[in-house]
Amino acid sequence: MSKSNLSAMVRTLRFEAAGIMSIELVPVAGSATAFPAFTPGAHIDLHLPSGLVRSYSLVNAPGETNRYVLGILADPKSRGGSRFIHDNFRVGMTLDISEPRNHFELMESAEHTVLVAGGIGVTPILCMYRRLRALGRNVKLLYCARTASQAAFVDELNALGGDVTYHFDEQHDGKPASLAAFLADQPAGTHAYCCGPGVMLDAFEAACAETGIANVHIERFAAAPDAPPPATSEGYVVTLAKSGKDIAVPAGATLLDTLLAAGIDAEHSCMEGVCGACETRVLDGCPDHRDSVLSASERASNKVMMICVSGCKGDRLTLDL
Ligand code: FES
Repeated sequence: MSKSNLSAMVRTLRFEAAGIMSIELVPVAGSATAFPAFTPGAHIDLHLPSGLVRSYSLVNAPGETNRYVLGILADPKSRGGSRFIHDNFRVGMTLDISEPRNHFELMESAEHTVLVAGGIGVTPILCMYRRLRALGRNVKLLYCARTASQAAFVDELNALGGDVTYHFDEQHDGKPASLAAFLADQPAGTHAYCCGPGVMLDAFEAACAETGIANVHIERFAAAPDAPPPATSEGYVVTLAKSGKDIAVPAGATLLDTLLAAGIDAEHSCMEGVCGACETRVLDGCPDHRDSVLSASERASNKVMMICVSGCKGDRLTLDL
């Protein structure tokens, strides 16, 4: 579990769009007067009464530490997270949340930024857009949804003004937006961000490659659909540098489960390679990355890994644990 959970109370539940509600969380009276500050793109974990842990992006302005606001889609394929929240959350209830983490950081100093949101992926993108508008930066945003009725936070986006384009598939014979057209002719050094369903992220990465945008940032909602199972096919040995312990990870077991079973207090949350809570520094060896958090360059560096789903390409790893 996270070492530094916070106590939060649900102050507001609000309808935002078809299937989407926002949740405003405030510190529980007496536990703290403010939440930790966060940066655009950050998310927090909700620890649900069922024991499930789910991560959601923060929507509100980063300067606000008196509250956290999340936007949550009642996913029809929900495995007990978003559906549970929609059906069971009530104003006044309390729950544990994690401190904010950010694996989708905004380069605030970029000369030019393009933001692309698909569906509920608008949550971190709105937070980024809000920040860039406040800083007076050059930014444009494309927000895609199947229908206008499924687009959340449109009033907030319109209130921020600037260069926002909406694409609702229903108004284009069901066709998605052309990301290559939107991303064409951007100035050199542009940073491009996308949060949305996997098919959109794949199209976005392809469009960035096609249009010559090198600074590409994406965030997935859930584990990549083609991610292989987390279990390892071969066993290996992990050395914990701080204690000098060697621990054997048997074939078929995950690294995190093995460490927890050995009594190691390894921080974790989602157990699916999505939230980033279990990020661990790698001191030696070659990880077999299976997460949906690290960028391609972070993976290639092999300096960190998500121990809940990733394994080892060789027979030995040394971790900063
Ligand atoms: S516990 Fe969430 S990424 Fe590992």
